[in-house]
Amino acid sequence: MKALEGVKVLDFTHVQSGPTCTQLLAWFGADVIKVERPGVGDATRKQLVDVPGADSLYFTMLNHNKRSIELNSKNETGKEILTKLIETCDILVENFAPGALDRMGFSWERIQEINPRIIMASVKGFGPGKYEDCKVYENVAQCAGGAASTTGFRDGPPLVTGAQIGDSGTGLHLCLGIVTALYQREKSGRGQKVLAPMQDGVINLCRVKLRDQQRLEVGPLKEYSQFGEGVEFGDATPRAGNDSGGGQPGRILKCKGWETDPNAYTYFITQAAVWEKICDVIDEPEWKTKDGYATPGDRLDKLNEIFGRIEEWTMTKTKFEVMDICNPLNIPVGPILSTKEIIEDEGLRATGTIVDVDHPERGRYTTVGCPIKLSDSPVDVERSPLLGEHTVEILQQVLGYAGEDLERVIGSGAVGEPKRVAAE
Ligand code: COA
Repeated sequence: MKALEGVKVLDFTHVQSGPTCTQLLAWFGADVIKVERPGVGDATRKQLVDVPGADSLYFTMLNHNKRSIELNSKNETGKEILTKLIETCDILVENFAPGALDRMGFSWERIQEINPRIIMASVKGFGPGKYEDCKVYENVAQCAGGAASTTGFRDGPPLVTGAQIGDSGTGLHLCLGIVTALYQREKSGRGQKVLAPMQDGVINLCRVKLRDQQRLEVGPLKEYSQFGEGVEFGDATPRAGNDSGGGQPGRILKCKGWETDPNAYTYFITQAAVWEKICDVIDEPEWKTKDGYATPGDRLDKLNEIFGRIEEWTMTKTKFEVMDICNPLNIPVGPILSTKEIIEDEGLRATGTIVDVDHPERGRYTTVGCPIKLSDSPVDVERSPLLGEHTVEILQQVLGYAGEDLERVIGSGAVGEPKRVAAE
Protein backbone atom coordinates (compact mmCIF):
# COMPACT_ATOMS: atom_id res chain seq x y z
CA MET A 1 0.00 0.00 0.00
CA LYS A 2 1.16 3.53 -0.81
CA ALA A 3 0.52 6.58 1.38
CA LEU A 4 -1.70 8.39 -1.15
CA GLU A 5 -3.32 5.30 -2.69
CA GLY A 6 -6.82 6.09 -3.95
CA VAL A 7 -6.11 9.82 -4.33
CA LYS A 8 -6.74 11.09 -7.88
CA VAL A 9 -4.86 14.08 -9.21
CA LEU A 10 -5.84 16.10 -12.26
CA ASP A 11 -2.39 17.24 -13.30
CA PHE A 12 -2.66 20.37 -15.40
CA THR A 13 0.99 21.29 -14.90
CA HIS A 14 3.83 21.94 -17.31
CA VAL A 15 7.54 22.82 -17.41
CA GLN A 16 9.15 22.27 -13.98
CA SER A 17 7.50 23.74 -10.89
CA GLY A 18 4.11 22.01 -11.15
CA PRO A 19 5.45 18.70 -12.53
CA THR A 20 7.91 18.43 -9.60
CA CYS A 21 4.95 18.61 -7.24
CA THR A 22 2.74 16.10 -9.04
CA GLN A 23 5.68 13.71 -9.49
CA LEU A 24 6.04 13.62 -5.69
CA LEU A 25 2.31 12.96 -5.31
CA ALA A 26 2.64 10.11 -7.83
CA TRP A 27 5.61 8.68 -5.93
CA PHE A 28 3.57 8.77 -2.74
CA GLY A 29 0.96 6.64 -4.51
CA ALA A 30 -1.58 9.06 -6.01
CA ASP A 31 -3.03 8.36 -9.48
CA VAL A 32 -1.71 11.38 -11.39
CA ILE A 33 -3.48 12.10 -14.67
CA LYS A 34 -1.48 14.54 -16.74
CA VAL A 35 -3.69 16.54 -19.11
CA GLU A 36 -1.81 17.66 -22.21
CA ARG A 37 -2.66 19.62 -25.31
CA PRO A 38 -3.32 17.19 -28.24
CA GLY A 39 -0.33 16.68 -30.50
CA VAL A 40 1.80 19.10 -28.49
CA GLY A 41 1.86 18.14 -24.83
CA ASP A 42 4.05 19.67 -22.17
CA ALA A 43 6.48 21.97 -24.00
CA THR A 44 9.43 20.34 -22.23
CA ARG A 45 8.86 17.10 -24.17
CA LYS A 46 10.57 18.81 -27.09
CA GLN A 47 12.98 21.09 -25.24
CA LEU A 48 16.72 20.32 -24.88
CA VAL A 49 16.23 17.19 -26.98
CA ASP A 50 19.20 14.80 -26.81
CA VAL A 51 17.70 11.76 -28.57
CA PRO A 52 15.96 12.85 -31.81
CA GLY A 53 12.29 11.88 -31.85
CA ALA A 54 12.19 10.92 -28.17
CA ASP A 55 10.88 12.81 -25.15
CA SER A 56 13.66 14.90 -23.65
CA LEU A 57 15.29 14.24 -20.30
CA TYR A 58 13.83 17.58 -19.22
CA PHE A 59 10.38 15.98 -19.53
CA THR A 60 11.10 12.41 -18.51
CA MET A 61 12.93 13.38 -15.32
CA LEU A 62 9.98 15.43 -14.06
CA ASN A 63 7.04 13.23 -15.01
CA HIS A 64 7.62 9.73 -13.68
CA ASN A 65 4.76 7.50 -12.48
CA LYS A 66 2.07 9.62 -14.21
CA ARG A 67 -0.56 8.79 -16.85
CA SER A 68 -1.04 11.09 -19.86
CA ILE A 69 -4.32 12.05 -21.53
CA GLU A 70 -4.44 14.31 -24.57
CA LEU A 71 -7.26 16.79 -24.17
CA ASN A 72 -8.13 20.09 -25.79
CA SER A 73 -9.62 21.92 -22.85
CA LYS A 74 -10.82 24.73 -25.09
CA ASN A 75 -13.34 22.85 -27.25
CA GLU A 76 -16.79 21.75 -26.12
CA THR A 77 -16.14 18.00 -25.82
CA GLY A 78 -12.81 18.77 -24.16
CA LYS A 79 -14.62 20.90 -21.58
CA GLU A 80 -17.10 18.08 -21.00
CA ILE A 81 -14.26 15.64 -20.31
CA LEU A 82 -12.44 18.14 -18.13
CA THR A 83 -15.62 18.69 -16.11
CA LYS A 84 -15.86 14.93 -15.53
CA LEU A 85 -12.22 14.84 -14.48
CA ILE A 86 -12.85 17.65 -11.97
CA GLU A 87 -15.87 15.73 -10.64
CA THR A 88 -13.76 12.61 -10.20
CA CYS A 89 -10.45 13.95 -8.89
CA ASP A 90 -9.46 14.94 -5.35
CA ILE A 91 -6.84 17.45 -6.41
CA LEU A 92 -6.31 19.74 -9.40
CA VAL A 93 -2.79 21.08 -9.77
CA GLU A 94 -1.92 23.78 -12.30
CA ASN A 95 0.84 26.24 -13.07
CA PHE A 96 -0.50 28.11 -16.07
CA ALA A 97 0.10 31.79 -16.57
CA PRO A 98 -2.25 33.86 -14.39
CA GLY A 99 -5.84 33.80 -15.66
CA ALA A 100 -5.41 30.86 -18.09
CA LEU A 101 -7.83 28.57 -16.22
CA ASP A 102 -10.45 31.34 -16.03
CA ARG A 103 -10.07 31.91 -19.76
CA MET A 104 -10.78 28.20 -20.30
CA GLY A 105 -14.01 28.73 -18.36
CA PHE A 106 -12.83 27.00 -15.18
CA SER A 107 -12.62 29.64 -12.45
CA TRP A 108 -12.17 28.53 -8.83
CA GLU A 109 -15.87 29.27 -8.28
CA ARG A 110 -16.86 27.04 -11.21
CA ILE A 111 -14.48 24.29 -10.10
CA GLN A 112 -15.98 24.34 -6.58
CA GLU A 113 -19.47 24.17 -8.07
CA ILE A 114 -18.46 21.03 -9.98
CA ASN A 115 -16.73 19.42 -6.98
CA PRO A 116 -16.81 21.12 -3.56
CA ARG A 117 -14.35 18.56 -2.17
CA ILE A 118 -11.62 19.30 -4.71
CA ILE A 119 -8.37 20.91 -3.71
CA MET A 120 -7.11 23.31 -6.35
CA ALA A 121 -3.40 23.97 -6.11
CA SER A 122 -1.54 26.57 -8.14
CA VAL A 123 1.98 27.78 -8.67
CA LYS A 124 2.20 31.39 -9.79
CA GLY A 125 5.24 33.62 -10.12
CA PHE A 126 4.00 36.20 -7.63
CA GLY A 127 1.25 36.34 -5.03
CA PRO A 128 -1.59 38.92 -5.14
CA GLY A 129 -0.32 42.46 -5.78
CA LYS A 130 1.21 44.50 -8.52
CA TYR A 131 3.13 41.63 -10.17
CA GLU A 132 0.40 38.99 -9.97
CA ASP A 133 -0.19 38.92 -13.74
CA CYS A 134 3.45 38.28 -14.66
CA LYS A 135 4.72 35.10 -16.29
CA VAL A 136 7.68 33.86 -14.30
CA TYR A 137 10.52 31.39 -14.78
CA GLU A 138 13.09 30.05 -12.32
CA ASN A 139 15.71 32.78 -12.43
CA VAL A 140 13.15 35.56 -12.19
CA ALA A 141 11.96 34.01 -8.92
CA GLN A 142 15.52 33.63 -7.64
CA CYS A 143 16.09 37.31 -8.35
CA ALA A 144 12.79 38.52 -6.87
CA GLY A 145 13.06 36.27 -3.82
CA GLY A 146 16.36 37.52 -2.42
CA ALA A 147 18.50 34.57 -3.56
CA ALA A 148 20.45 36.33 -6.33
CA SER A 149 21.14 39.39 -4.23
CA THR A 150 22.73 37.27 -1.50
CA THR A 151 24.57 34.78 -3.75
CA GLY A 152 28.03 35.38 -5.22
CA PHE A 153 31.07 37.32 -4.10
CA ARG A 154 31.05 40.82 -2.64
CA ASP A 155 32.99 42.28 -5.57
CA GLY A 156 30.97 40.49 -8.27
CA PRO A 157 27.43 40.69 -9.66
CA PRO A 158 24.42 38.87 -8.15
CA LEU A 159 24.37 35.17 -9.07
CA VAL A 160 21.63 32.60 -9.62
CA THR A 161 22.17 29.14 -8.16
CA GLY A 162 22.20 25.77 -9.92
CA ALA A 163 19.63 24.40 -7.49
CA GLN A 164 16.19 25.14 -8.94
CA ILE A 165 14.84 26.72 -5.81
CA GLY A 166 12.25 28.76 -7.71
CA ASP A 167 10.76 25.87 -9.68
CA SER A 168 11.45 22.62 -7.82
CA GLY A 169 11.55 24.50 -4.51
CA THR A 170 8.07 25.89 -5.12
CA GLY A 171 6.86 22.48 -6.27
CA LEU A 172 7.86 21.14 -2.85
CA HIS A 173 6.05 23.97 -1.08
CA LEU A 174 2.94 23.31 -3.16
CA CYS A 175 3.07 19.59 -2.42
CA LEU A 176 3.11 20.26 1.31
CA GLY A 177 0.17 22.65 0.91
CA ILE A 178 -1.77 19.97 -0.97
CA VAL A 179 -1.31 17.15 1.54
CA THR A 180 -2.11 19.58 4.37
CA ALA A 181 -5.34 20.60 2.61
CA LEU A 182 -6.12 16.93 2.03
CA TYR A 183 -5.71 16.29 5.76
CA GLN A 184 -7.99 19.22 6.61
CA ARG A 185 -10.58 17.90 4.16
CA GLU A 186 -10.73 14.69 6.16
CA LYS A 187 -12.30 16.75 8.96
CA SER A 188 -14.08 19.58 7.14
CA GLY A 189 -15.30 17.65 4.11
CA ARG A 190 -14.41 20.71 2.00
CA GLY A 191 -11.71 21.35 -0.53
CA GLN A 192 -9.77 24.58 -0.68
CA LYS A 193 -7.47 26.63 -2.83
CA VAL A 194 -3.72 26.26 -2.31
CA LEU A 195 -1.39 28.89 -3.74
CA ALA A 196 2.41 28.71 -3.76
CA PRO A 197 3.93 31.81 -5.39
CA MET A 198 7.49 31.25 -6.55
CA GLN A 199 8.74 34.53 -5.08
CA ASP A 200 7.36 33.54 -1.66
CA GLY A 201 8.93 30.08 -1.87
CA VAL A 202 12.36 31.56 -2.60
CA ILE A 203 11.92 34.12 0.20
CA ASN A 204 11.14 31.27 2.57
CA LEU A 205 14.36 29.55 1.52
CA CYS A 206 16.24 32.86 2.02
CA ARG A 207 14.88 33.25 5.56
CA VAL A 208 18.36 33.39 7.13
CA LYS A 209 19.34 36.25 4.84
CA LEU A 210 16.33 38.24 6.03
CA ARG A 211 17.38 37.39 9.58
CA ASP A 212 20.77 38.94 8.78
CA GLN A 213 19.12 42.01 7.26
CA GLN A 214 17.62 42.81 10.64
CA ARG A 215 20.78 41.95 12.57
CA LEU A 216 22.60 44.38 10.29
CA GLU A 217 20.42 47.18 11.59
CA VAL A 218 21.98 46.79 15.03
CA GLY A 219 25.60 46.22 14.03
CA PRO A 220 28.00 44.51 11.61
CA LEU A 221 27.58 40.82 10.78
CA LYS A 222 30.61 39.58 12.63
CA GLU A 223 30.66 36.06 11.21
CA TYR A 224 30.81 37.38 7.60
CA SER A 225 34.37 37.39 6.21
CA GLN A 226 34.08 41.04 5.30
CA PHE A 227 33.87 41.93 9.00
CA GLY A 228 37.29 40.37 9.66
CA GLU A 229 38.64 42.06 6.55
CA GLY A 230 37.53 45.45 7.87
CA VAL A 231 35.19 46.13 4.92
CA GLU A 232 32.21 48.27 5.90
CA PHE A 233 28.69 46.89 5.49
CA GLY A 234 26.06 48.61 3.33
CA ASP A 235 22.38 48.79 4.19
CA ALA A 236 21.42 45.29 2.93
CA THR A 237 22.65 41.75 3.60
CA PRO A 238 25.73 41.43 1.38
CA ARG A 239 26.88 38.59 -0.86
CA ALA A 240 29.17 36.49 1.26
CA GLY A 241 30.92 34.17 -1.19
CA ASN A 242 31.21 30.76 0.40
CA ASP A 243 30.93 31.91 4.01
CA SER A 244 28.94 29.37 5.93
CA GLY A 245 26.04 31.68 6.75
CA GLY A 246 25.66 30.29 10.24
CA GLY A 247 27.57 30.91 13.46
CA GLN A 248 30.39 28.50 12.51
CA PRO A 249 32.86 29.92 9.96
CA GLY A 250 33.24 27.84 6.82
CA ARG A 251 34.83 28.17 3.37
CA ILE A 252 35.41 26.21 0.18
CA LEU A 253 39.08 25.22 0.01
CA LYS A 254 41.28 23.80 -2.73
CA CYS A 255 42.26 20.14 -2.59
CA LYS A 256 44.88 18.09 -4.41
CA GLY A 257 44.33 18.33 -8.15
CA TRP A 258 42.48 21.66 -8.13
CA GLU A 259 44.70 22.99 -10.92
CA THR A 260 43.01 20.70 -13.46
CA ASP A 261 39.84 19.43 -11.76
CA PRO A 262 37.19 22.17 -11.32
CA ASN A 263 35.63 20.16 -8.48
CA ALA A 264 38.74 19.31 -6.46
CA TYR A 265 37.54 21.35 -3.49
CA THR A 266 36.13 20.71 -0.05
CA TYR A 267 33.85 22.65 2.24
CA PHE A 268 35.53 23.05 5.61
CA ILE A 269 33.81 24.29 8.77
CA THR A 270 35.89 25.46 11.72
CA GLN A 271 33.28 24.44 14.24
CA ALA A 272 34.25 25.84 17.66
CA ALA A 273 33.74 22.51 19.44
CA VAL A 274 36.46 20.81 17.35
CA TRP A 275 38.90 23.73 17.12
CA GLU A 276 41.62 21.83 18.99
CA LYS A 277 41.34 18.84 16.65
CA ILE A 278 41.57 21.15 13.64
CA CYS A 279 44.75 22.69 15.09
CA ASP A 280 46.26 19.21 15.43
CA VAL A 281 45.25 18.14 11.91
CA ILE A 282 46.84 21.20 10.28
CA ASP A 283 49.82 21.04 12.60
CA GLU A 284 49.31 24.34 14.39
CA PRO A 285 48.95 23.02 17.95
CA GLU A 286 49.91 26.36 19.52
CA TRP A 287 46.73 27.97 18.06
CA LYS A 288 44.72 26.00 20.63
CA THR A 289 45.79 28.35 23.41
CA LYS A 290 47.44 31.28 21.61
CA ASP A 291 46.06 34.72 22.37
CA GLY A 292 43.71 35.84 19.59
CA TYR A 293 43.17 32.28 18.33
CA ALA A 294 41.74 30.33 21.26
CA THR A 295 38.13 31.60 21.20
CA PRO A 296 35.72 31.85 18.23
CA GLY A 297 35.23 35.60 18.75
CA ASP A 298 38.97 36.27 18.73
CA ARG A 299 39.37 34.33 15.50
CA LEU A 300 36.87 36.38 13.47
CA ASP A 301 39.45 38.90 12.23
CA LYS A 302 41.90 36.11 11.37
CA LEU A 303 39.69 33.90 9.22
CA ASN A 304 41.68 34.59 6.04
CA GLU A 305 44.91 33.53 7.77
CA ILE A 306 43.28 30.50 9.41
CA PHE A 307 41.54 29.26 6.27
CA GLY A 308 44.72 29.98 4.30
CA ARG A 309 46.62 27.66 6.63
CA ILE A 310 43.89 24.98 6.48
CA GLU A 311 43.94 25.22 2.69
CA GLU A 312 47.71 24.63 2.64
CA TRP A 313 46.82 21.34 4.33
CA THR A 314 43.76 20.44 2.19
CA MET A 315 45.82 21.06 -0.98
CA THR A 316 48.00 18.11 0.02
CA LYS A 317 44.96 15.77 0.13
CA THR A 318 42.19 14.77 -2.25
CA LYS A 319 38.70 15.92 -1.26
CA PHE A 320 37.91 12.34 -0.23
CA GLU A 321 41.07 12.05 1.88
CA VAL A 322 40.06 15.26 3.68
CA MET A 323 36.70 13.60 4.39
CA ASP A 324 38.36 10.38 5.59
CA ILE A 325 40.65 12.23 7.97
CA CYS A 326 38.17 14.79 9.31
CA ASN A 327 35.04 12.64 9.67
CA PRO A 328 36.35 10.43 12.50
CA LEU A 329 37.37 13.62 14.33
CA ASN A 330 33.86 15.13 13.91
CA ILE A 331 35.26 18.02 11.88
CA PRO A 332 32.43 18.96 9.45
CA VAL A 333 33.72 18.83 5.86
CA GLY A 334 32.11 17.98 2.54
CA PRO A 335 33.61 17.21 -0.86
CA ILE A 336 32.40 19.29 -3.81
CA LEU A 337 30.81 16.46 -5.79
CA SER A 338 30.37 16.90 -9.52
CA THR A 339 27.16 15.83 -11.25
CA LYS A 340 29.18 12.96 -12.78
CA GLU A 341 30.30 11.78 -9.35
CA ILE A 342 26.75 12.00 -8.02
CA ILE A 343 25.33 9.98 -10.92
CA GLU A 344 27.99 7.30 -10.34
CA ASP A 345 27.65 7.24 -6.53
CA GLU A 346 26.93 3.69 -5.37
CA GLY A 347 25.49 4.85 -2.03
CA LEU A 348 22.92 7.08 -3.74
CA ARG A 349 22.00 4.23 -6.07
CA ALA A 350 21.55 1.89 -3.13
CA THR A 351 19.04 4.27 -1.50
CA GLY A 352 17.09 4.88 -4.72
CA THR A 353 17.99 8.57 -4.91
CA ILE A 354 19.75 7.89 -8.21
CA VAL A 355 18.01 5.30 -10.41
CA ASP A 356 18.08 3.99 -13.97
CA VAL A 357 14.82 3.81 -15.90
CA ASP A 358 13.97 2.13 -19.22
CA HIS A 359 12.07 4.14 -21.80
CA PRO A 360 10.63 2.78 -25.07
CA GLU A 361 11.74 5.76 -27.19
CA ARG A 362 15.02 6.79 -25.62
CA GLY A 363 16.29 3.60 -23.96
CA ARG A 364 17.82 3.55 -20.51
CA TYR A 365 18.46 6.83 -18.71
CA THR A 366 19.45 7.91 -15.23
CA THR A 367 17.21 10.02 -13.06
CA VAL A 368 16.79 11.37 -9.55
CA GLY A 369 14.40 9.22 -7.55
CA CYS A 370 12.27 10.31 -4.64
CA PRO A 371 14.38 12.30 -2.17
CA ILE A 372 11.88 11.73 0.66
CA LYS A 373 11.86 8.24 2.14
CA LEU A 374 8.71 6.87 3.79
CA SER A 375 9.28 3.58 5.60
CA ASP A 376 5.72 2.37 4.91
CA SER A 377 5.32 3.75 1.41
CA PRO A 378 8.25 2.71 -0.78
CA VAL A 379 8.70 4.32 -4.19
CA ASP A 380 9.15 2.46 -7.49
CA VAL A 381 10.23 4.93 -10.14
CA GLU A 382 8.33 4.25 -13.38
CA ARG A 383 9.06 5.91 -16.71
CA SER A 384 7.20 9.03 -17.78
CA PRO A 385 4.18 8.48 -20.07
CA LEU A 386 4.29 9.04 -23.82
CA LEU A 387 2.00 11.82 -25.02
CA GLY A 388 -1.59 10.56 -24.80
CA GLU A 389 -0.45 7.05 -23.85
CA HIS A 390 -3.37 6.60 -21.45
CA THR A 391 -6.07 8.64 -23.21
CA VAL A 392 -8.44 5.75 -23.93
CA GLU A 393 -7.69 3.98 -20.65
CA ILE A 394 -8.59 7.13 -18.70
CA LEU A 395 -11.72 7.84 -20.76
CA GLN A 396 -12.93 4.28 -20.13
CA GLN A 397 -11.68 3.34 -16.69
CA VAL A 398 -11.67 6.66 -14.86
CA LEU A 399 -14.51 8.51 -16.60
CA GLY A 400 -16.68 5.56 -17.65
CA TYR A 401 -16.99 6.38 -21.37
CA ALA A 402 -18.07 3.33 -23.40
CA GLY A 403 -19.62 2.30 -26.73
CA GLU A 404 -21.02 5.11 -28.89
CA ASP A 405 -20.24 7.68 -26.27
CA LEU A 406 -16.56 6.74 -26.37
CA GLU A 407 -16.66 6.85 -30.20
CA ARG A 408 -18.25 10.31 -30.06
CA VAL A 409 -15.57 11.66 -27.77
CA ILE A 410 -12.73 10.17 -29.78
CA GLY A 411 -14.23 11.43 -33.03
CA SER A 412 -14.65 14.95 -31.70
CA GLY A 413 -10.97 15.88 -32.02
CA ALA A 414 -10.86 16.79 -28.34
CA VAL A 415 -8.50 13.97 -27.41
CA GLY A 416 -5.89 13.98 -30.14
CA GLU A 417 -5.57 12.32 -33.49
CA PRO A 418 -8.20 9.53 -33.79
CA LYS A 419 -5.58 7.40 -35.60
CA ARG A 420 -3.20 7.69 -32.71
CA VAL A 421 -5.95 6.87 -30.23
CA ALA A 422 -7.16 3.93 -32.33
CA ALA A 423 -3.66 2.49 -32.30
CA GLU A 424 -3.74 2.13 -28.51
N1 COA B 1 -5.84 22.54 -24.20
C1 COA B 1 -6.01 23.77 -24.69
N2 COA B 1 -5.26 24.84 -24.31
C2 COA B 1 -4.32 24.62 -23.41
C3 COA B 1 -4.08 23.35 -22.85
C4 COA B 1 -4.91 22.27 -23.29
N3 COA B 1 -4.76 21.02 -22.82
N4 COA B 1 -3.07 23.45 -21.98
C5 COA B 1 -2.67 24.74 -21.99
N5 COA B 1 -3.42 25.45 -22.85
C6 COA B 1 -3.33 26.86 -23.14
C7 COA B 1 -3.61 27.74 -21.93
O1 COA B 1 -4.96 27.80 -21.66
C8 COA B 1 -3.02 29.07 -22.42
O2 COA B 1 -3.94 29.71 -23.24
P1 COA B 1 -4.37 31.28 -23.08
O3 COA B 1 -3.09 32.04 -23.13
O4 COA B 1 -5.26 31.50 -24.26
O5 COA B 1 -5.06 31.41 -21.79
C9 COA B 1 -1.85 28.62 -23.29
O6 COA B 1 -2.01 27.22 -23.48
C10 COA B 1 -0.47 28.87 -22.75
O7 COA B 1 -0.37 28.64 -21.35
P2 COA B 1 0.68 29.47 -20.49
O8 COA B 1 0.64 28.99 -19.10
O9 COA B 1 0.48 30.93 -20.70
O10 COA B 1 2.06 28.97 -21.16
P3 COA B 1 3.33 29.83 -21.60
O11 COA B 1 4.23 28.85 -22.28
O12 COA B 1 2.98 31.04 -22.39
O13 COA B 1 3.99 30.32 -20.24
C11 COA B 1 4.93 30.01 -18.03
C12 COA B 1 4.78 29.45 -19.47
C13 COA B 1 5.67 28.96 -17.23
C14 COA B 1 5.75 31.30 -18.09
C15 COA B 1 3.53 30.31 -17.43
O14 COA B 1 2.75 29.15 -17.52
C16 COA B 1 3.60 30.76 -15.98
O15 COA B 1 3.94 31.91 -15.66
N6 COA B 1 3.22 29.87 -15.05
C17 COA B 1 3.16 30.16 -13.64
C18 COA B 1 4.53 30.24 -13.02
C19 COA B 1 5.34 29.00 -13.23
O16 COA B 1 4.94 27.90 -12.91
N7 COA B 1 6.56 29.22 -13.73
C20 COA B 1 7.57 28.21 -13.74
C21 COA B 1 7.43 27.23 -14.78
S1 COA B 1 8.66 26.01 -14.46
